[in-house]
Amino acid sequence: GHDVMSAQEVVLENADAVARHVAAFLLEKACEARGIFRIALSGGSTPKKLYTLMAAPSYASLFPWKKVQFFFGDDRFVPADSPDSNRGMVQDILFSKVKVPTANIHPMPDRGDPDEAARAYEAELKKAYGADRLIPNKPLFDMVLLGLGENGHTASLFPRQPALEETTRWVAPCVPDDAPHTRLTLTYPAIASSRYVLFLVTGTSKAEVLERVRAGDPAEPASHIRSDGQIEWIVDRQAAGQPQE
Ligand code: 6PG
Repeated sequence: GHDVMSAQEVVLENADAVARHVAAFLLEKACEARGIFRIALSGGSTPKKLYTLMAAPSYASLFPWKKVQFFFGDDRFVPADSPDSNRGMVQDILFSKVKVPTANIHPMPDRGDPDEAARAYEAELKKAYGADRLIPNKPLFDMVLLGLGENGHTASLFPRQPALEETTRWVAPCVPDDAPHTRLTLTYPAIASSRYVLFLVTGTSKAEVLERVRAGDPAEPASHIRSDGQIEWIVDRQAAGQPQE
């Protein structure tokens, strides 16, 4: 597999250019796919521009909605109408505006016991994958979208959490000590079973942490992301620490 050292980095002018690049890349890969295309979406604020572009009629009319199965890389244990809900955010910005079959949308559970909810989502992934263990050369995800938090977290893999140590579960609960809400997150092995992992990172506030992750600082959870396929960092000049033109 490829590790961070063999990752590709693309530096673009600004956050709009990052969203356009990822939208075009996703369209190309989804159209190319022969069968079902499974993607794990990221939350937070960075991908909102991407989801907005995907909802535009000029893009949505080209996108193969029927063959794409949408999963989530993480979510907060809050109702969908909460401003902190990733499923609610993607529903508002994207799914409510396009013709995606409801059966293709797989939100994370947001109530009950977090451990049971994580197991239930893992069972849903296993059903979609068609096997109950990860098989080499059979990626769980065609694409995993990820962001980067200022404290080095990605998905909801937060520093010092037991979820970071998971080697068998695909989904784990997480109770970050420096962020609100219990969360569910994909684990490292689930993310690694992928053709493409795309990190979207924009803005000056991410420059320092991006530098540390690039250097492979083991204290940053994002430094430990692997993919059986390819890791692509799609970043803007601000996050890359490059001066504006
Ligand atoms: C989430 C995420 C999380 C996010 C980072 C960066 O649900 O919040 O999936 O990992 O990508 O916290 O968040 P911003 O894009 O808001 O900076």
